[in-house]
Amino acid sequence: MTIKQLFVAGAGLMGAGIAQTAISCGYEVSLREVDEALVNRGAENIKKRLENLVQKGKLEAGQRDAVVARLHPTTSLEAAGRADFVIEAITENFEAKRDLFKRLDGICRPDVILASNTSSIPITRMAAVTKRPERFIGMHFFNPVPVMPLIELTRGRDTADETVNATLELSRSLGKTPITSLDYPGFIVNRMLVPFVNEAINALMQGLGSREDIDQGAKLGLHHPMGPLELADFVGLDTHLYICNVLYEGLHDPKFAPPALLQQLVDAGHFGRKSGRGFYRYRQDGSRQPD
Ligand code: CAA
Repeated sequence: MTIKQLFVAGAGLMGAGIAQTAISCGYEVSLREVDEALVNRGAENIKKRLENLVQKGKLEAGQRDAVVARLHPTTSLEAAGRADFVIEAITENFEAKRDLFKRLDGICRPDVILASNTSSIPITRMAAVTKRPERFIGMHFFNPVPVMPLIELTRGRDTADETVNATLELSRSLGKTPITSLDYPGFIVNRMLVPFVNEAINALMQGLGSREDIDQGAKLGLHHPMGPLELADFVGLDTHLYICNVLYEGLHDPKFAPPALLQQLVDAGHFGRKSGRGFYRYRQDGSRQPD
């Protein structure tokens, strides 16, 4: 099957990042949100980021116009009927994804692969709500999508080899390096990331070092671009807590248990960068603010 038209469901941070990457690689993309305001916000964010690339001299203005012309913002789910491949990037909630996939299953051509960008919901569970579990796959992108080179592919219980191969090919054509995982909680990357971030939070809770020293330790000692506390703020402390619980409940291993300090920050509404406060404080534009 030749893939030319993508349908991306969800125009938030991840969906818009996926759409930006795909239009930049020559795909026609329908970017769908539930209302005009949300879809317009997603499309505007993409245009702003492309404009930044023009300002930095990394993209010519003419090329930018051609890239933007491949973006088709929409509120219609029926637009998925024209798609060759679907990527879902809506909110991380099983019921919402289940309802969406049931509808998409009825709209999309039978040969079309349905992929989910979930970081934590079992692929097999979502595939089972469709009549095409062999054409269902996890396609987990990393934030910020246009910059991060990885896509983590997860095969569900019944995912066919042809589905994996087509998605590997699509991932490479998006300029990314794919890895493949079985469908167990957290897949590969969060299985490694969660204990690492949790250990940093526990260390902070015990007073082992300041938040700055813990982050510098990972940045300068391990060459990570962000320290674990900074990264948790970037991912969202509520999201990190949710993923911890998925791993903890799914694998029954205390090393994934959410630290008390993480739960406390989330209870206080300190979700990290998106709420202006987490381990650090942030301005509206996302830059760090001194306490
Ligand atoms: N969207 C698009 N591009 C972005 C961006 C965004 N939101 N944020 C930064 N960039 C681009 C910048 O434009 C810049 O591009 P150029 O090199 O072409 O100029 C480049 O990224 C570097 O940005 P900056 O110079 O502003 O800042 P930086 O060097 O500090 O890098 C960073 C920022 C790329 C975010 C870097 O800190 C980083 O890689 N951090 C780690 C990110 C990470 O680990 N992400 C995975 C999180 S886990 C996840 O997503 C999955 C999950 O399930 C939880």
